[in-house]
Amino acid sequence: MAEIIVVTSGKGGVGKTTTSASIACGLARRGKKVAVIDFDVGLRNLDLIMGCERRVVYDFINVTQGEATLKQALIKDKRFDTLFVLAASQTRDKDALTKEGVEKVLKDLDADGFDFIVCDSPAGIEKGAFLAMYYADKAIVVVNPEVSSVRDSDRILGLLDSKTRRAEEGKTLVPNLLLTRYNPGRVETGEMLSIKDVEEVLGLKTLGIIPESGDVLNASNKGEPVILDLESPAGQAYDDAVARLLGEDRPMRFTSIEKKGFFSKLFGG
Ligand SMILES: Nc1ncnc2c1ncn2[C@@H]1O[C@H](COP(=O)(O)OP(=O)(O)OP(=O)(O)O)[C@@H](O)[C@H]1O
Ligand SMILES: [Mg+2]
Repeated sequence: MAEIIVVTSGKGGVGKTTTSASIACGLARRGKKVAVIDFDVGLRNLDLIMGCERRVVYDFINVTQGEATLKQALIKDKRFDTLFVLAASQTRDKDALTKEGVEKVLKDLDADGFDFIVCDSPAGIEKGAFLAMYYADKAIVVVNPEVSSVRDSDRILGLLDSKTRRAEEGKTLVPNLLLTRYNPGRVETGEMLSIKDVEEVLGLKTLGIIPESGDVLNASNKGEPVILDLESPAGQAYDDAVARLLGEDRPMRFTSIEKKGFFSKLFGG
């Protein structure tokens, strides 16, 4: 069975699409067959970050409405044979996405032997976000270490507990916390919440901590998800998160300020 993972958040602009792209690439790099779906009807961002925006012919809505087959709409990634992108429609309105349409696409992907389906949720708690989470088996809740992001995540946790298919069936959907744009320096000066603060408020298991890094924007501009940049701390942190998602035990990295050693201080390295 395909495992359906929703990447969601309360507040917008916290790093869901960045995360969806990197998690999908990371799973594919480990040989998994992965589809990543953009649920953000009207905006279309995922294909840009994945670097396939010029190859979008048919989108998610075309498939849900029977105007194209799944095969026609799935864009095969140039780097990994087992990775496929389903882009959002830029022109249709948000009501074009229906529960039945989404269910059909997910079922067809499952029948096609996909191991993972990553659903990139739009911001907020409206229909698109609800549809992105409804069929999920697992949730990654993306949070930035600031009060407004944490507060809005609480609302999403409430929805994950009550408005998903698993909730309706009486099953639990254990949400995973992914803390992104973490800046240990700003935590130390009290400008940002610490990992412990966020974990305590939300009561969630932490899947990963992604440091704030200029590499993320560079990667997006190039259409190369940051996880492919293994020199980058953000890329490495995403790779750790993917390993944890697959059951590996990895220590958290990049959570404290790197203290410069004696020699690098001396020589200014
Ligand atoms: N770890 C990070 N370090 C620095 N910048 C980051 C990091 N993660 C994300 N960003 C930046 O934050 C911005 C928002 O990221 P992204 O589009 O992934 O968020 P989103 O949650 O999908 O937004 P929306 O709610 O609009 O869909 C982008 O400019 C991205 O480059
Ligand atoms: Mg997004």
